[in-house]
Amino acid sequence: MKKDFSSDGSSGDFSSGENISYWLDSVRPMETSTLEQDMETDVLVIGGGIAGLTTAYLLAKAGRIVMLVEDGLIASGESGRTTAHLTCALDDHYQQLEKTFGAEGSRLAAQSHMAAIDRIEEIVRLEHIACNFERLNGYLFLYPGEKKQYLVDELEAIKRTGILAQWLDEVPGMPAATGACIAYPRQAQFHITRYLHELAHVILNLGGRIFTKTRATDIDKNGAKCNGYAVHAKHIVVATNTPVNDLVTMHTKQFPYRTYVVAAKVPKGSLPHALWWDTGDMDSRWITAPYHYVRLQSFTEEHDLLIAGGEDHKTGRADEEGIPEERRYQALINWLKVYFPKAGEIAYNWSGQVMEPIDHLAFIGLNPGNDNIYIITGDSGNGMTHGTLGGMIVSDLIQGIENPWTELYSPKRKPLKDLGTYLSEVMNMAAQYADFFTEADIKNLEELAPGNGAIFGKGMKRMAVYKEENGRLNAFSAVCPHLGCVVQWNADERSFDCPCHGSRFTKEGQLINGPAISPLKKIDINARQL
Ligand SMILES: Cc1cc2nc3c(=O)[nH]c(=O)nc-3n(C[C@H](O)[C@H](O)[C@H](O)COP(=O)(O)OP(=O)(O)OC[C@H]3O[C@@H](n4cnc5c(N)ncnc54)[C@H](O)[C@@H]3O)c2cc1C
Ligand code: FES
Repeated sequence: MKKDFSSDGSSGDFSSGENISYWLDSVRPMETSTLEQDMETDVLVIGGGIAGLTTAYLLAKAGRIVMLVEDGLIASGESGRTTAHLTCALDDHYQQLEKTFGAEGSRLAAQSHMAAIDRIEEIVRLEHIACNFERLNGYLFLYPGEKKQYLVDELEAIKRTGILAQWLDEVPGMPAATGACIAYPRQAQFHITRYLHELAHVILNLGGRIFTKTRATDIDKNGAKCNGYAVHAKHIVVATNTPVNDLVTMHTKQFPYRTYVVAAKVPKGSLPHALWWDTGDMDSRWITAPYHYVRLQSFTEEHDLLIAGGEDHKTGRADEEGIPEERRYQALINWLKVYFPKAGEIAYNWSGQVMEPIDHLAFIGLNPGNDNIYIITGDSGNGMTHGTLGGMIVSDLIQGIENPWTELYSPKRKPLKDLGTYLSEVMNMAAQYADFFTEADIKNLEELAPGNGAIFGKGMKRMAVYKEENGRLNAFSAVCPHLGCVVQWNADERSFDCPCHGSRFTKEGQLINGPAISPLKKIDINARQL
């Protein structure tokens, strides 16, 4: 669901936002042909991110007939906006996972993410993929104000999973951080778009077919319509980040969050290659305890890029903390300069969306109610490994191979132990409907500066308006075509975002992200009495 931003000189149809990540900037976007006829296939994979491409690769490698459709270009979704830490240090922490899934579930989760990293390494080696894959240590340190006991408890919970983590009294590479950390061995990082583009080439070489700028609609047990053409398939894998085959069920089990990234130049070799994370702000108003995540990436002969992420908030709700989307980068830079004083000029900034599952683990497997439609979703801040695991589990399911993690990640599971969190998110979601009665962003259209968007008008007549640089107005119903919440203006990525389940629309009303499957309804503003 990509929009051709290039009409106004911005990012082109290869991204789900107007800010371009380092990964999308450093590798030419990969485009294949567009589907122009009806087709038959054994497996239809929908989505050209890490989840879809890994699934297609593993099945093609196993000799299955695979076809993948992607409505943008390869990696033009959230995979192109990631920071690509490959880790078993899951962002909701093992103390929490143990409470929800028990000691055995927590052990399986740790084991599965380590297996996903191993699988990526194996694919890189086997297919000779040049993507800067490197093994390194990860360090989890305390968010200011959090108690040391939290780290002590976390280390104990990790050790119970069998991971060989250890206590360090200082955080390597971070002299400004006071206190201890947990060190995780054999974590990894890579260059995501190099990896995915090469993976796509391998799929093609194995006889798989990939169609970009090809959108799947009308997904059912027989296949889907792809750009209007009928594609018949025995198995359908919906790897669209958030499922676009289901109107309600899965969307009550996960919640959309925005997360922000800055990439600062640092003198080459001045910091060790490692992954760093803080434990997150547990007093935050959001259920996710927003945390900071940092890594290095080789950049030029003189500089590495220090890539730092964080400052997350519920989609469409940044203002509730008094820090709108476009000001989140400065908060991140302020944090970075304290902990990494060598951080210099900011070379890139971008943001993206993660789907936070209610009980912290992704939903991978048969879509509830179907026996040949599979989904991979709910991957939170660990979507590189969750997406890879998605490919591993779903390809096993399709081939009838037993997989040790099928039950843990089953989309059918009922996360009763997290009822408190569930209710608070559902209440939060229900509260979004009150947006019909809250004050609009602007009272009259003259207030709107060129190049800006806003929500305008009252009740069911709420409009999402965008004023082009030449003063021309684009106006749409602000009612999200998914389940009717009011969209919000995101001045950072210049999109209209829905706080309920994360659908996003360009400033021209076009669909960027599901679960909505249609654009915002256009309003001929000049024909209306305003
Ligand atoms: C800023 C940021 C930092 C992150 N950092 C990390 C990290 O360090 N480590 C980590 O593990 N995870 C991280 N994540 C999470 C991770 O990047 C994502 O979870 C992961 O990339 C999702 O992959 P995916 O394949 O599920 O989805 P996507 O990459 O979004 O792919 C889905 C694709 O489906 C396509 N599509 C949608 N609908 C249709 C349709 N109807 N027809 C055809 N195609 C369709 C989309 O265009 C898209 O390209 C981060 C995420 C963000 C935003
Ligand atoms: S995404 Fe569900 S109502 Fe908007």
